[in-house]
Amino acid sequence: MIKKIPVSQLALGMHIHDLDCGWLDHPFARNHFTIDDEATLNRLRESGIEEVFVDTDKGMVVKAIKVPDAAPARDAGEPACEPSSFAPEIVAGLSSVGKFNRVKNLCASANYLMQDVMRDVRLGEQVDVGKCEPVVDNILDAMFSFPSAMLPLAQVKSRDEYTFQHSVSVAALAVAFGRVLNLPRDEIRELALGGLLHDVGKARVPGRILNKPGKLDEAEFAVMKNHVVSTAELLGNVKGVSEIALNAAAQHHERYDGTGYPHGLKGDEISLHGQMLAIVDVYDAITSIRVYHNGMPPTEALRKLFEWGGSHFNPRLVEAFIKGIGIYPAGSLVRMESDRLGIVREVMPDRLLQPVVQIIFDCKKLKHISPETVDLFSSDDRIKSHESFEKWGIDQARWATAHI
Ligand SMILES: [Fe+2]
Repeated sequence: MIKKIPVSQLALGMHIHDLDCGWLDHPFARNHFTIDDEATLNRLRESGIEEVFVDTDKGMVVKAIKVPDAAPARDAGEPACEPSSFAPEIVAGLSSVGKFNRVKNLCASANYLMQDVMRDVRLGEQVDVGKCEPVVDNILDAMFSFPSAMLPLAQVKSRDEYTFQHSVSVAALAVAFGRVLNLPRDEIRELALGGLLHDVGKARVPGRILNKPGKLDEAEFAVMKNHVVSTAELLGNVKGVSEIALNAAAQHHERYDGTGYPHGLKGDEISLHGQMLAIVDVYDAITSIRVYHNGMPPTEALRKLFEWGGSHFNPRLVEAFIKGIGIYPAGSLVRMESDRLGIVREVMPDRLLQPVVQIIFDCKKLKHISPETVDLFSSDDRIKSHESFEKWGIDQARWATAHI
């Protein structure tokens, strides 16, 4: 369906059908396209165009909900986004672009859900777990069907929406981790719910501390640390939150050597799920890609986690996590023996050194080449090393949000 909406209501994943002005009046090469990244969304918002036509059959449908720092009047009623199902019978009929766009929509709708949940908390309401469950099910299905698409997408964060996007990413990573440990699906689902809601207590941290650009002073840090206590309190008061989800969320800042907070629990005093979420939370925080700022390359982050195994984290769990995410995780930049650079696109657990790679750059000629997708399982080319996006001037966020 074609709908006319104000530019202020546009969101990632929506498909522009018409910009409602002459082509000389806007800065875009085409009149119809899908909003794939924050930069395009910002250009639209700054273009001076007031209203556009969107095609709801080709892109996401989003209600006009945008959460400012202070608690606004609550929009009653429906969820922020129409849910996209990942039921196997639906996914089976989709093209690879269709699957990729569906994952993108899922990330966006889960992000909106978290904005909504945290706004409820700011307004003194309870966490509505019932609203989270369909999204958790979709994250679970997406991570079981095509994990390599979801993780790099979830890595990309904007400054204003970091907390919500981080929650979605932690839930997705928790599913990947649960799968490596062969946990039952129901248990992984609870862990993912704990992951999605692990920072919900941050809704009680004043915006001036939560969004402070510089270092927090001692008093501010104490307030910030208290978000875990708030999370435990909020989730402990809600029916339908299992012990697994509650422990995972309430213990994500505890450390294996007892140096964490809020209780300084040590070793097996921390539940398995709390130990898992601690690893996932740190991994996502250090690998997140911000606008104009690349994250730590995943390979480098995994090396850090390995170093922290035995002190901050349970070393056996760190090892399992690395195995699950891959030696060269999806979204990494790698250099091939053929002296070309590629983005890791798909990682198979049984052949971690032979992922599917999209070749994008020629190191000898120092120039981008027409992207070519290579399955290293059936190729003579091999990965020589991982590389830094910065060193080669390659835009990490752009490649994380582009379809192969
Ligand atoms: Fe936290």
